[in-house]
Amino acid sequence: MQISITLNGRKITEDVTPKLLLIDWLRAHGCYSVKRGCETSNCGLCTVFMEDKPVLSCSVLAVRADGKRIETLEGLKEEAEEFGAFIAGQGAEQCGFCNPGMIMNAIALFRENPEPTEEEIKEYLAGNLCRCSGYEGQLRGIQEFLSYKKGGGAQ
Ligand code: FES
Ligand code: FES
Repeated sequence: MQISITLNGRKITEDVTPKLLLIDWLRAHGCYSVKRGCETSNCGLCTVFMEDKPVLSCSVLAVRADGKRIETLEGLKEEAEEFGAFIAGQGAEQCGFCNPGMIMNAIALFRENPEPTEEEIKEYLAGNLCRCSGYEGQLRGIQEFLSYKKGGGAQ
């Protein structure tokens, strides 16, 4: 079946099999930030934005994205780099495998709720599995980033 998806601002039209998962379609188009962790909607590593809303691409068929805009970390470089520096600064990035999914979810949180409470941040982080850290560094990185933004972007 033929689908058209606008991936990171570029429209792609092609034939796919009905069973193809969005994660596989994205990786076949060079979006290697989209990682396969659990494939059971539990780890958040495969998070992408569909029409600006975070979705787990391991649980979405590529055909469901037909006619939609999809953004991956590759398309959010500036936002991701700015925030990623705060995570790295807290030493929260160990093996780094969970990082792209965590950054996507954090960006979704900042867009939806620019002033989250600690509890709200924890709720967001809960959907993002990290085998290395205890989430404390990630929490501190997010909080530091938010105060930096609140202060108008000056460190
Ligand atoms: S691979 Fe999709 S949620 Fe884990
Ligand atoms: S830093 Fe290794 S899984 Fe999160």
